[in-house]
Amino acid sequence: MIKIISVVGARPNFMKIAPFIRAIDRHNADNKGKEIVHKLVHTGQHYDARMSDAFFSDLGIPEPDINLGVGSGTHAEQVGKTMIEFEKVLKAEKPDWVVVVGDVNATLACSVTAKKEDIRCCHIEAGLRSGDMTMPEEINRIVTDRVSDLLLVPDEISRGNLLSEGVDEHKIVSVGNIMIDTLEENLSSALKLKIKDIIRDNSYTMPASLPEDETAFAFITLHRPSNVDRPETLGPIVDFITETAARRLKIIWPVHPRTVGKLSEFGLMDMLTSERNIILLKPVSYREALKLNVSASVVLTDSGGLQEECTVLGTPCITLRFNTERPVTLRENGGTSVLAGNNTDIIRNEFIRSLSIPRKPFLPPLWDGQTASRCVKAIVEYSTPQ
Ligand code: UD1
Repeated sequence: MIKIISVVGARPNFMKIAPFIRAIDRHNADNKGKEIVHKLVHTGQHYDARMSDAFFSDLGIPEPDINLGVGSGTHAEQVGKTMIEFEKVLKAEKPDWVVVVGDVNATLACSVTAKKEDIRCCHIEAGLRSGDMTMPEEINRIVTDRVSDLLLVPDEISRGNLLSEGVDEHKIVSVGNIMIDTLEENLSSALKLKIKDIIRDNSYTMPASLPEDETAFAFITLHRPSNVDRPETLGPIVDFITETAARRLKIIWPVHPRTVGKLSEFGLMDMLTSERNIILLKPVSYREALKLNVSASVVLTDSGGLQEECTVLGTPCITLRFNTERPVTLRENGGTSVLAGNNTDIIRNEFIRSLSIPRKPFLPPLWDGQTASRCVKAIVEYSTPQ
């Protein structure tokens, strides 16, 4: 019997854990007598209904067995509280494996705690590197990979990163991108949604007119501290959105809670709400985001997951970052994303250029919707004494 505790903490973790749990259920149905015992821990980093609960119900994730209730705070507070609470869980549950996904604070805190309890750790989405140590997620990725026993990588670039850091090749398994399992599973139901309904169900303030044409809009998301935490950076981006982007297209922008706080603090909210071509939404569901992505003329984002989804769906994507841990999504590598940083001259040029680029879907090898089963298989194989 193998006992696994898997961990989620923040929104981008949920679409990665949903297919993994379903793959365990399939494994158990096919392997009577050799079932995997699984428990799900939510650290509670994201707690709003729209940032957490909605994803559990939408993606069919079972209720977490344990919620650590960590909540918001500084990085040290979040990581520290998570480690203290997760250690208690590990001492009581004594799992064989802890499985962590992605690069959020839960990923770091729980992988380190597992290792200190001498419990094997598996990292799904290992090997991503932006090379940017000012990014909290980069620190989380490096530390998590360093302590993990099994590193499940989404692409060959990530495998190469780990090898060049000296990771033993026997610990690395290419499994593909687990988020694409969730995309494949939800795409047909997402396509049935209506943009008008998404706007009506999520709007901050109802726009004067709802868009008739379901494709002529830009889909925007922004939440990285490097873009939103300082008025000198966020101000010019908002100027670009109101003065250039919204003059050409409708803008649909589900706003992250961090960004709502900063827009209000810097006095930028009124500029956006007074522009009739800009539709600000509350955080949308996974399927709603998929529908917005597949329908948009262009996506502007600083989200890693959206860069990947744009690549698979073919949507031209302007990434408001100077680097990416997901180079496979860049146009020069076959993807649809271009790095524009936060320089608004570059963003403007790329925005105008992207409007004439046709959709061009691209599926890197093993991004085939079957990644979660490969993850479970790898854990089972590594659990069997050689
Ligand atoms: C976190 C992740 C980031 C991920 C992002 C996705 C880390 C280091 N960062 O950043 O990698 O891309 O989630 O959303 O783990 N808040 C709420 N309600 C919530 C959650 C947050 O209002 O349910 C507000 C709070 O004011 C909080 C702020 O958003 O202080 C930031 O939340 P936090 O979890 O610290 O970081 P994110 O920016 O969401």
